[in-house]
Amino acid sequence: MDDFYSPVAEFYDLVGRAHSAGEQALRERLSAMTHIHDPILDIGAGTGRTVMTIAESVPQVDILAVEPAPAMRAVLTHAVAQCLELRQRVTIIPDTVDQLQLPQRLGAVVAFGVLGHLTSSQRQGLWALLLPRLARGAPIFVELLPVEKPVVLPRMMLANETIGQRHYQATLEGEPGPDDTMLLTSCWTVSGGPCATQVIRNRSIWHTFGLEDLARESGLHAQRLTPQAGVLYV
Ligand SMILES: C[S@@+](CC[C@H](N)C(=O)[O-])C[C@H]1O[C@@H](n2cnc3c(N)ncnc32)[C@H](O)[C@@H]1O
Repeated sequence: MDDFYSPVAEFYDLVGRAHSAGEQALRERLSAMTHIHDPILDIGAGTGRTVMTIAESVPQVDILAVEPAPAMRAVLTHAVAQCLELRQRVTIIPDTVDQLQLPQRLGAVVAFGVLGHLTSSQRQGLWALLLPRLARGAPIFVELLPVEKPVVLPRMMLANETIGQRHYQATLEGEPGPDDTMLLTSCWTVSGGPCATQVIRNRSIWHTFGLEDLARESGLHAQRLTPQAGVLYV
């Protein structure tokens, strides 16, 4: 796996994703699912935003948090280690999706911000792994970038935050890459305080498709929850 996240993991939580529409929709849907008893799988758990949402929405159920990028996983482990309840419920798995060894049954799956990092054949492998483990109606929650075909994504502001004397500014832009891909470039500029300005440029690859494409390739039903988030189910 290309690790697109570790070089900028220290900045990840400065991007205003908390309380996004997708996260709110995930929280509402999970909170209404009082019948989930099997573990919930969080693929590409990142620094723990979605793990916390799952833990707060579905009491007691175990959470399998899959995060292969070491620096992202360090932040996740720190967050889980702070809370006794999370320590008992959350299992952190350092593998990529193609290496997973899963239990026989899953209550739900969350894949926020990650499926576009998988090729079509990796996604096929993922569906083959997940579907036998999900009961009828069990949800797979997804959040995607709002680009279904490779396009030019004009530069946009990603973050603009101050911590102490340091100011963190980030932009994101994208351009079409080979085949179905977009090449995304983020640029972080950290300035101020008693140290030199840092400029960190980071590139990642995102395979473009939409919710309906996922439904077609997996044979699942799809329901859109927000412009970027949706749910797939058997
Ligand atoms: C955009 S972040 C999303 C983090 C979190 N789900 C959220 O919404 O805040 C995508 C995460 O997917 C992880 N990832 C990338 N490729 C992966 C793969 N093949 N298997 C599992 N996780 C992967 C990355 O390391 C990264 O932490």
